[in-house]
Amino acid sequence: MRLFLDTAHIDQIREINKWGVLSGVTTNPTLVAKEHDDVERVWKEILSEVKGDVSLETTEPEAGPMYEQGLKLAAMGENAVVKVPMTPAGLEAGRRLSDEGIRINVTLVFSPAQAVLAAEIGAYIVSPFIGRIDDAAADGMHALRQICDIYDIQGYETEVLAASLRHPMHVVEAALAGADICTMPYDVFSKLVKHPLTDKGLDQFNKDWESLQKELRGSVPGSIEKGA
Ligand code: E4P
Repeated sequence: MRLFLDTAHIDQIREINKWGVLSGVTTNPTLVAKEHDDVERVWKEILSEVKGDVSLETTEPEAGPMYEQGLKLAAMGENAVVKVPMTPAGLEAGRRLSDEGIRINVTLVFSPAQAVLAAEIGAYIVSPFIGRIDDAAADGMHALRQICDIYDIQGYETEVLAASLRHPMHVVEAALAGADICTMPYDVFSKLVKHPLTDKGLDQFNKDWESLQKELRGSVPGSIEKGA
């Protein structure tokens, strides 16, 4: 499974990228708007920072202009993936882009039926929004499991990207469901590494190591016998 960051904030991307586990980035108009900066500059910086896939979202509502915008976004970098929404226009533009070999990510997917449509237009990625399904008092993880099962049964090659993840257990459950990719905000990514027993264990190791150093500094060389 690949792990993506769901952000347009370059400092967060640089920080997580140092861990050696970051395989890509997803952005959307809301995330880009939070940067209050030139959009192309923001996208280009992310595309050059990350080796893996970077999703850039179209904003044109009609199929024709969305297709043209998709061509431009795809040309921004070899690792650019063009996001189109799950709408009739998004499907039309997405199909044209996909037929031309451009990798598309169909976003704003909330049901297995929509995920079938994304696969049928040859999408590279489908993005079901787990947390937002939960927000609507439905079961986002159940929808994800159904999508993964359907894709297996039908032999669809479209990769399932679990999006709108809100906490580490979402990531664990998405991995168990068979999602190909999980994208998550910086705070969720940061929590993946955390465990209180890791902190406690490290604290004890450090204390024991320090007390050994003190003991060795205060002793005559060779006077401490092993096991004594
Ligand atoms: C995915 O590509 C979306 O940008 C994202 O996961 C949306 O998540 P949200 O529901 O936290 O805004």
